[in-house]
Formats: sequence, structure tokens, C-alpha cells
Amino acid sequence: MKKYRLALLKGDGIGPEVVSSAAHVLDVASQSTGLQIEFVELLVGMEAYRTTGRTLPPETMKGISECDGWILGPLQTGSYPKDDKDYPMSSGKIRKQYDLFANIRPAKSYLNTLNHIDLVVVRENTEDFFPNINLHKGYGEFWVDKDTVMSLRVIRRSSCKRIAKTAFEIARSRNQKKLVTAVHKSNVLMEGDGLFLDEVEHVHEEGYQDVKLEQKLVDSTSMELVTNPERFDVILTTNLFGDILSDEAAGLVGGLGLAPSLNSGESYAMAQAVHGTAPDIAGKNVANPVSEILSSAMLLDWLFSRKGEERKVFETARRIENAVREQLLSQNPKDKTIDLNGSASTQEFTSSLCMRILANS
Ligand code: NAI
Repeated sequence: MKKYRLALLKGDGIGPEVVSSAAHVLDVASQSTGLQIEFVELLVGMEAYRTTGRTLPPETMKGISECDGWILGPLQTGSYPKDDKDYPMSSGKIRKQYDLFANIRPAKSYLNTLNHIDLVVVRENTEDFFPNINLHKGYGEFWVDKDTVMSLRVIRRSSCKRIAKTAFEIARSRNQKKLVTAVHKSNVLMEGDGLFLDEVEHVHEEGYQDVKLEQKLVDSTSMELVTNPERFDVILTTNLFGDILSDEAAGLVGGLGLAPSLNSGESYAMAQAVHGTAPDIAGKNVANPVSEILSSAMLLDWLFSRKGEERKVFETARRIENAVREQLLSQNPKDKTIDLNGSASTQEFTSSLCMRILANS
């Protein structure tokens, strides 16, 4: 029987709390299905800096390549010490180096008091207006004079092609509206977003005619996401627009504590909650771990999508997702963390979830 090696990269702020919670839930759920998981802890962020003088040590970059999947906590990125050899480090560097070109961010109403939203933002992950990743060497923002900054945007046809394919595949597999909304600003970013739309249309024509395709400007999409979110199925977009729209979608389904995400490529995948380090609540044992827990379940689904994987991988993910759904529907305040008007600490929430998984097994 295969043993899956999963890297734990705890990160900064609430990272250690939510990653530990996710690992505990994975451990319990995998034991209930008989799936074998081994966790490999690797340093990243301020803890790595204090130990090694770097926020992304080479041992970590090498170590993750020897694991089947990675679970990353949030990173405080912009506020790392300037003498950090990896400055300005971010998870973008990991995504770029291991070519995790797709960032999949579902937004689903798990809380019965809210709406019936069930959409996925499929965000390109390796270029666009992200100066730390959009050049081979150097930083993609430039001081033209002391009062002027120029920021570079990169859009490649090959990147548009593979992210479009990912979005159409997801729309097809979800069995819902089978609708891909390509979100852009081509009336202003005529060349970059013109290229993006051209390639999306091309991919659609070549193999995905069974999926509906529509094109929408990012500004009106932002509005419609608030006024009529149920109409969306798969939102396909470039990096920065996807970053913003997915946080907006998270707000509609209960906040950042409920928003999972997966960074994936051909060979590697990394679970990473949508939220940041939440410095206002870090270390207080009150963070909502659901985002990181559901991201880890997405990682299992990605592992299962590879050929020849054990069915237990899929079953473990379902046990986690079902228990989360059940717990969030509970009316007992002890079953929710304080961001959802509950009274449970991070650890109490995690323990109840684990007991629910065992009870359902
Ligand atoms: P944030 O997501 O850390 O926090 C925004 C608000 O949401 C805060 O009030 C926070 O308490 C709350 N929140 C976030 N996650 C929560 C959770 N799991 N449970 C309960 N409440 C939660 O965003 P902010 O404040 O803009 O950024 C803080 C730091 O995080 C910055 O240094 C930023 O660069 C970094 N960041 C890192 C990301 C990553 O590594 N993936 C993503 C976004 C921001």
C-alpha cells in the first residue's frame, strides 16, 4: 500500500494554527479510511528566517519536490526583513518554480443562512501584474524618476491556453451549468486581455463546445458577483483579477475563513487557504481553520485525479468535506469559530470535526 508524503509549510501569523488543524483532520480522516499519510515538516516564512536567515531556504525548495503534495499556510510576504536573502519572498516563488499555473478557488455556500452560491474562480498563477514572478530575473516594477513607478504586466499565449483548458475541464466535470465566464478588461488592456480572450476562444472552439463560454468585463462582473452570484459557474481569469474576485466571492459565502484554494500544475500541487496571516488574531487560538482544511481536501482530490491512485484518497477527501458541511450547518455555537458568530476555539473546532469524521465512518 502506498504511503503519501505531504509537506507541511506552516508559514506566518495564523499559519501554524490552521496548518496544524488541517494536518490533524487529515490524519484522523485518513486513519478512518486506511489511507497512509506521512507528514514532512519544512521551514518557511519568519520561522525559517530566524533559523536560517532566509524565508524560503533551499532545503525547503528541494524537500517539497520529494513529497506528493504540499500544505502551505499564509505568508506575511511584504513585511519580511530586507536582509532576507529571498526578499521579496512570496508563495509566488514556489508557484513559479514548480509551475503551479492554476489557482483553483471554489466559493460554496456551506452556511444555511446564506445563499446558494457554488462557483469556482480559475485564476492564472504565474504571470500578469505580479512583479515578483513576471520576469525571469529582477523585479517587474521600475522607478522611472523619483516620483514615478512603472509596473509591468505579462500575458503569454501558452499560459492563457493551459489555464483556459483547466477551466473548461473543471466546468465539464462539475456537471452544473457548464458555463465558463472569461473575465477581462480588454476595452483598456487591449493587447494583453485581447490575447487572453483570443486564446480562450481558440481552446473553446477546439475541444469544449459542450461547455458554454461568455465574456465579461471585470468591473461589471464584480458588481454581478454581489447582485446575482448564483448565475456563475466557473470564472476564468488572469492572476490579479482572480485574486480580487475570489476574495469577493469568499465574502459572499461567509468570509475568508471558509475559502479554500489549490495551486496546481502538471506534476505538483499545493493546498493554500485564500486568506492571509490575519495578524489581528494570530496566536489567539481563534482562527477558523476550515479554509486550510478544505484546501487540503482539494489536494487529495488532485492526487486522486492522477492515474492509478487509490480510491481511499478520494474517500478521505469526501469524509472531510462532508464533516465540514455538517458541522457548519449545526446551530450549536460550539460548532463554529468566532468569525461565524460561534464560540469554538481553533482547537475545539478541530476536535469536534475529528469526532464527527469518526462518528460518520
Ligand atoms: P488577512 O486575510 O490576513 O485578514 C483579513 C481579515 O480576515 C482579518 O480581519 C482577519 O482576522 C480575517 N481572517 C483571515 N483569515 C481568517 C481565518 N482563517 N479565521 C478568521 N478570520 C480570518 O488579510 P490582510 O490583513 O490583508 O493581510 C495580512 C497579511 O497576510 C499581509 O502581510 C499580507 O501580505 C498577507 N497575505 C498573505 C496571503 C498568503 O500568503 N496566501 C494572502 C493574503 C494576504
